[in-house]
Amino acid sequence: MGIAKGRILSAAHPESIRLAAEIIRAGGLVAFPTETVYGLGCDALNPEAAARIFEAKQRPRFDPLIVHIADRAALDALVSHMSLSDHKLMDAFWPGPLTLVLPKRPVVPDLVTAGLPTVAVRMPAHPVAQALIREAGVAIAAPSANPFGYVSPTCAQHVLDGLGDRIDLILDGGPCPIGVESTIVSMIGTWSELLRPGSVTLAEIREVIGPVVRTAASQTVIAPGQLPRHYATRTPVTILAAQGARPVVHGHERAGLLAMSAPNHVDDRFCAIEVLSLSGDLREAARNLFGALRRLDALGLDRLYAEPCDERGLGLAIMDRLCRCAVSNQLKTSELSRR
Ligand code: TXA
Ligand code: MG
Repeated sequence: MGIAKGRILSAAHPESIRLAAEIIRAGGLVAFPTETVYGLGCDALNPEAAARIFEAKQRPRFDPLIVHIADRAALDALVSHMSLSDHKLMDAFWPGPLTLVLPKRPVVPDLVTAGLPTVAVRMPAHPVAQALIREAGVAIAAPSANPFGYVSPTCAQHVLDGLGDRIDLILDGGPCPIGVESTIVSMIGTWSELLRPGSVTLAEIREVIGPVVRTAASQTVIAPGQLPRHYATRTPVTILAAQGARPVVHGHERAGLLAMSAPNHVDDRFCAIEVLSLSGDLREAARNLFGALRRLDALGLDRLYAEPCDERGLGLAIMDRLCRCAVSNQLKTSELSRR
């Protein structure tokens, strides 16, 4: 590509967007900001480029990618059919943090959709994502820009830390304003299903299309990326029974606390405390979640204790990510005991 791998460029310069678009068109990989998390993008219709994404992330090939578009005109080429409910959701939430699973056209490579007859499509609202897709002139397939199974990146430095030497360019557009991945909805089956909670809430979706079922991760065969082993820190995470609950910190355990809001008392049992929002604001908490988890994880502590939040509104997405983190660690216990 003519530039050193892992180079970071400010997205504020039109030149950076032009170079990034060129790289995408030539089959390369560019990390770019969206309003949710940073994505690792490639030309969605180029199977060799998609293969590079799976390689760079060490992502299993059964886990399909989301295809990003800048306007609805791009849908016709990718998707064979849309229901009235799909249209209603697009009217209500696009551009924005909502991904829709739709029947795909044959032109979408099987690698991108992991062989599924459907493709997940999203129209991001972030101006850099929009500008990149338009400049590239192609739809962009992009999973979150992190090594498979680790916490998603919410700033350019996170991308550099995890994938820097494996990708062609990182477009730095500052921190992501939402901080958790998009809500994923599928209307493919008998029921409208919420496959992944995000900042477009279940209540908001139900208001637009009526009943929606929440598919538990363990039952989801069609969205393998929903497997619990996701969003994991290296440090084991235990979710506390309630906010302010005092955990039993064992003997010499070096523990960190992820607090939802300002703690009532200073607790010297913790080596480190991260507060997601002093006032307990869920939007602020979501925005800070992955950065705080990464900072705590970098300390190499024995255990992280995380306060829960109410599973309402954006709280459902926050708890979903925390629970996956906690479950993942359990699944990886044998791995950890070898460290
Ligand atoms: O906010 C987001 O969605 C970010 C930004 C970059 O757009 N992207 C993201 O991508 O989170 P990723 O790959 O980390 O998560 C995509 C999820 C995976 O769990 C995958 O299984 C699911 O979307 N998915 C993709 N295609 C699907 C399909 N055809 N049917 C069901 N689930 C699908
Ligand atoms: Mg991901």
